[in-house]
Amino acid sequence: MDTMLEVKGLKTYFFTEAGVVKAVDGIDFTVGKNETIGLVGESGSGKTVTGLSVIRIVPPPGKIVDGSITFEGEDLLKKSEEEMRKIRGNKISMTFQDPTTSLNPLFTVGDQIAEVIREHDKNISKNESMEKTIKLLEMVHISEPTIRVKAYPHELSGGMKQRIAIARSLASDPSLLFADEPTTNLDVTVQAQVLELIKELRDKQKMSLVMITHDMGIVAEITQRVQVLYAGMVAEIAETHSLFSKPQHPYTEALLQAVPRIDQRKELKVIPGNIPNLINPPTGCRFNPRCQYAKAICSEKVPVLEKTDKGHYTACHFWRNLDLTGA
Ligand SMILES: Nc1ncnc2c1ncn2[C@@H]1O[C@H](COP(=O)(O)OP(=O)(O)O)[C@@H](O)[C@H]1O
Ligand SMILES: [Mg+2]
Repeated sequence: MDTMLEVKGLKTYFFTEAGVVKAVDGIDFTVGKNETIGLVGESGSGKTVTGLSVIRIVPPPGKIVDGSITFEGEDLLKKSEEEMRKIRGNKISMTFQDPTTSLNPLFTVGDQIAEVIREHDKNISKNESMEKTIKLLEMVHISEPTIRVKAYPHELSGGMKQRIAIARSLASDPSLLFADEPTTNLDVTVQAQVLELIKELRDKQKMSLVMITHDMGIVAEITQRVQVLYAGMVAEIAETHSLFSKPQHPYTEALLQAVPRIDQRKELKVIPGNIPNLINPPTGCRFNPRCQYAKAICSEKVPVLEKTDKGHYTACHFWRNLDLTGA
């Protein structure tokens, strides 16, 4: 598969009064052409900051301090802000968990989408951009698009706002989309519809997709490959079926056991403990204080990512000795 995005050794830190928050601390990943990968992990594991880093909109006091981000053969970290503007929202787009923060309450949804279209295509007429906006609303299954185009965000339901935000991020026809927990704030039935929509658009537009989520159910539904993050580091990388059937990292096993299953009446296991403080993360493997299999070495030595099988990598000292339970 052709690689579209290759991130290597990415480190993004927040320089706060309390200390340096190592939010992303040496992450590697690739996204292939037309590939959908999942970026998973509990809240606070560095998923959003990874997405913001790739399009270089990390807010202060955050800073990318190391690594390379190669997109279609070019290092995005070497680009000027002006060059970056042409890539951001144009070739690479991102949708956010909360559509109310990505939509401006003062403008109609139509104006906000048309603005992106005009930025993307400077020669387009006002009428043409409005027509294209209405087409985009149709594409995200907004009913009565000629009326809704004049609506303000607050006049729409949460699900509709998320559809609009998705339409806006697709207005520039990106080849790579980061979808950051796009269904997390929605009702369960609406969640399923929005996920279906994202799948449909991905296939129609032949986009590569990075699905950022803490939900293993979504991972199973939409991704081909998964990247499991824990406390700013990569725990495991695998093809989705391989990750579910044969997890090689205790953290992945714990995540899988926390997935509700309709066909199993077994108790949901919550992962004990919390994600660590990233100013002073645990030494060695960052998961060690919460790991039921941890031994002395786990708090002494950082495990390197090792290949366990074709396309399957884990950062666990004991993967050879453990027989972990899949889903
Ligand atoms: N603006 C910020 N200032 C300080 N720390 C931040 C900021 N934004 C994110 N972080 C920290 O970075 C870490 C990763 O956050 P994030 O990428 O949002 O996690 P996720 O998306 O996986 O839930 C967290 O510890 C979070 O507190
Ligand atoms: Mg997040």
